[in-house]
Formats: sequence, C-alpha cells, structure tokens
Amino acid sequence: MERISEINQQVNKNDVNKKDTLTITDRKGNTFELKIHNNEFIQANDLLKVGLKDEGVLRSYDPGYMNTICCTSKISYIDGDKGILEYRGYPIEQLAEKSNFLEVAFLLIYGELPTPSQFQLWKNKIQTHTFVHQDINQMMKSFRYDAHPMGMLVSTIAATSTFHPEANPALSGQNIYEDSTVRNKQIHRILGNITTIAANCYRHRIGRSHNKPHPKLDYVENFLFMLDRLNENKYLPHPKLVKALDILFILHAEHELNCSTAAVRHLCSSGVDVYSCISGAAAALYGPKHGGANEAVLRMLNQIGKKENIPQFIQDVKDRKKLLFGFGHRVYKSYDPRAKIIKRVADEVFEIVGKEPLVEIAIELEKIALSDEYFVKRKLYPNVDFYSGVIYKAMGFPTDMFPVLFTIPRVAGWLAHWNEFVNDPENKIVRPRQNYQGLANKDYVDISQRQEKSSYLDAYKSATSRRRQVSVEYTAQRKESKQNATQA
Ligand SMILES: CC(C)(COP(=O)(O)OP(=O)(O)OC[C@H]1O[C@@H](n2cnc3c(N)ncnc32)[C@H](O)[C@@H]1OP(=O)(O)O)[C@@H](O)C(=O)NCCC(=O)NCCS
Repeated sequence: MERISEINQQVNKNDVNKKDTLTITDRKGNTFELKIHNNEFIQANDLLKVGLKDEGVLRSYDPGYMNTICCTSKISYIDGDKGILEYRGYPIEQLAEKSNFLEVAFLLIYGELPTPSQFQLWKNKIQTHTFVHQDINQMMKSFRYDAHPMGMLVSTIAATSTFHPEANPALSGQNIYEDSTVRNKQIHRILGNITTIAANCYRHRIGRSHNKPHPKLDYVENFLFMLDRLNENKYLPHPKLVKALDILFILHAEHELNCSTAAVRHLCSSGVDVYSCISGAAAALYGPKHGGANEAVLRMLNQIGKKENIPQFIQDVKDRKKLLFGFGHRVYKSYDPRAKIIKRVADEVFEIVGKEPLVEIAIELEKIALSDEYFVKRKLYPNVDFYSGVIYKAMGFPTDMFPVLFTIPRVAGWLAHWNEFVNDPENKIVRPRQNYQGLANKDYVDISQRQEKSSYLDAYKSATSRRRQVSVEYTAQRKESKQNATQA
C-alpha cells in the first residue's frame, strides 16, 4: 500500500485535475460521490450510500473475485504486465540468486531480512520442530498403500491440530493468537513439521519406513535426506540438488491472493486454529486448476511424445481442441519472472542427473509457441509450471508428489498471510453476499401429496455394487423359485 501510495502521489502530481471521487447517478437522478482510494478502488461499503433504499441497497457482483480487493497486504507484489514479482519489495530474481528458502520464509512472515543471530535462532527453532509426535507417524502408517500424497498431507496437517489443544482458539480462548509468542510457536512448528509430514507421505507411497529428521542438516537438505536415505549411516543429498530445490522453494513461497492463500484468509477469519487453516489451503492447492498444472504439463509433453508431433499439437491448440499447459496466466501477461529463473535451474539439475528427454520437447514447444502469432497476440508466455514439472521429473519425483513440493514452500506464504490477518485492524469474518434467484413463499406439501418430477438421486454404481446386485437378484429369484416349487 505504501508503494501504491507513492506511485499514486507521482501519478497525481502529473494529473492535478484528476478527480479522486467516482460520481454515481441513481435511477431517480440523485448523485453520489464515492471516494476513490489510492487511485485504484472504491469501498464496496460506500455503495450502500447509493440511494436505492426503498428498492434495496446497491452491491457489486463478482463471482471468482475477478475485480475485488479483499484486504490490504504488504507481503508480495505482482505487476503482471511487466513480469514483476517482489516479496516484501525484493525482486524474486535477487532472492533466488542470493537468498535461501528459510531466509525468504522469515522475510515473508516478519517483513524484513533476518540479521545473522535472528537467522540462526529462526533456523534452530524450525529445525527442532521437524520431529513430529510419534502418534502422527503412527497415524500416517494407516493410510492406504496407494493414497495420494496430497490427501495424506491435507489430512495429517488437519490432524496435527488435535495434538495442540493449547494452540486452538476454540479450546483455549478466542484471543490466544493476539499473543505473538503463541503465533511464533505455531509458525516454527508448522514450518518444521511440514517437511517431515511430506517426506512421510512419500515414504508411505513407495513402501519404505519413515526416516527421522537429521538434526544437523539444513531445511531442504534434511527434507531430501528424509525422502531418500535407506540404510546408509552417512547419507547426504547432493548439494546441487539441494540448491536447485531450495531455489524452487523460493519461487513457490508466495504469490499474493491466489485460491489457496485467499482460502487461508477466509478460514482464519472464522477464528479456527491455524492447522485447520493451513490444511484447508493445502486442499485448495490440490485442485488441478491451481497446484496441479505442472502435472498436466508433464502429461501433455508425454502425449506429444516427439518433436515431430509439435506442429500438429500447436495446430490442435489453435483449433481449440487442446490446451497448451504451462502457458498463459491470469495475472502475468508477459514472461512469468519465475519461469526465466527455473530454466536456469533446469540446466543445473540436468548436469547432475542427466537430461530428461521430455525437456527437448518442452524447449522446442516453447520456441515454436513464442514465435506463433496466436500466442504472441494473446500474450501467452510460459509460466512457472512449464519447467518445474520437467525438473521434478528429472529429479526422480513421482508426478503425484509435485503438488506436495509446491505446498511445502507455500506454507511460508500462507503463514505470512495468517500473521498479517491476525494483526490487521480491519480483519473481519468473511461473509460475502449472494444474488438470490430461488423460489419464494412456497407452502409446505405433505409427503403423500407430492408429485415426483425427477429422481434427483441418480449416482453411478461401483463395479463391486453391480457385482453384488446381480448376486442379490439371483438369490431372490432362487428363493422365489424354491417357494414356488414347494407350493406346487
Ligand atoms: C492460466 C489460465 C487459466 C489463465 O486464463 P485467463 O487469464 O482467464 O486467460 P483467458 O482464458 O482469458 O485467455 C485469453 C485467450 O488466450 C487463450 N489461452 C489462454 N491460455 C491458453 C493456453 N494455455 N493454451 C491455449 N490458449 C490459451 C484463451 O483461449 C483465450 O483466447 P480467446 O481470446 O481467443 O478466447 C490459462 O492461461 C490456462 O488455462 N493456462 C494453461 C494452464 C496452466 O498452465 N495453468 C497454470 C497457471 S500458473
């Protein structure tokens, strides 16, 4: 907001005649002046002043929040046209090059880069919270052998709340989060626990026992250690792979009010505990329209199969038969700054683990798409998911772990928004309005008098239930024929 105000002061200097109000004339000819704030928005509540009182009040209608600002935030800034992403004012390019994930997490949550002693304490606090309660480990072992890692992750984060009743406002007092020491404790615990829970999900999925966290390793290093150590006494993940994943974590840590981050703010507005908030946000991220796009890129590249098939694929996209996954973005209408960085990381990863053959197709596809008028005209550029899936694949992660690798760093962004929300004097429980278009004034009809218009209840049957149904029918027929035979 400070940044926006500064820019606006600049704009206003250049345009002294510009009005800072919006004039609305209602159907009766009354006019209203609504203040334009920061050269950008009017307060939706100001619409209540507009005189439709005898016919109801005036509201704005915005499914999908396409043009609605729901909070003031200082965490991250995106300029979609210019391809800018900043965390707390620092360009993502500088953070990816010079910082590390834990430092970025501190920056996002507390607003400034840590001093050496702050960083040391922060790291110790988080790393000592990588140990999860033994009952959580036990609980995780009871998931089905083929459970999706995100399903396990979402439910385990939610279950973690049951281990910390002292940190639950429903049990320990509505205002407990006003105490920053209580908040900090949950931040340390969640950032620490999340790598262990994620590693457990992976180990469960591949049928291996859980690894204990290594007390001496750094955040990302320890995560890779927990994923991959078998029976080695001294196992260390390759530092270049650690660095690559650390950069990917930085790039995925925060992206202002996307679906999952908006979910965090929505959920915590009810006062629910922070574990339930983070679990709900992870559930939103699990959706294919949000955290699942890099998986889709990989499926698409597999489907294309070889470079020679690219022209036909591009034609199918232009004919709207297919979608070019990993291209286009709701906010970025120029090159996603994260995609540029990720391309460099890809080369470093391939240097160690070998080139993923699909990358040849990805590079060629990008080249062709960027020079094709269809994509140029629509400002469709590669987004962060275009290369991240290929890197994860080259690093040997199974596709269903991709959203988990997105969730771990995004937890830092979610916690930053939770912290900001709790401190925000404007915070309120979220309660949007609806445009009701249903029926009214109907009289209750007794069940015996109702006309059936639709079965409503059609649902598909599972194969098991079809198999059982034919058997149940067979048994009934057999019983009936036996009865008939006895009577005869
Ligand atoms: C991300 C996305 C949903 C953004 O959508 P949006 O901002 O609503 O953009 P629109 O859907 O309005 O697209 C504008 C135009 O570009 C086209 N377009 C957008 N993304 C496209 C893509 N990936 N492939 C082909 N055409 C695309 C649309 O068909 C539309 O064309 P039209 O104007 O002729 O109808 C969209 O670009 C997309 O589906 N991308 C692929 C999925 C993906 O990579 N998601 C990850 C996002 S990080």
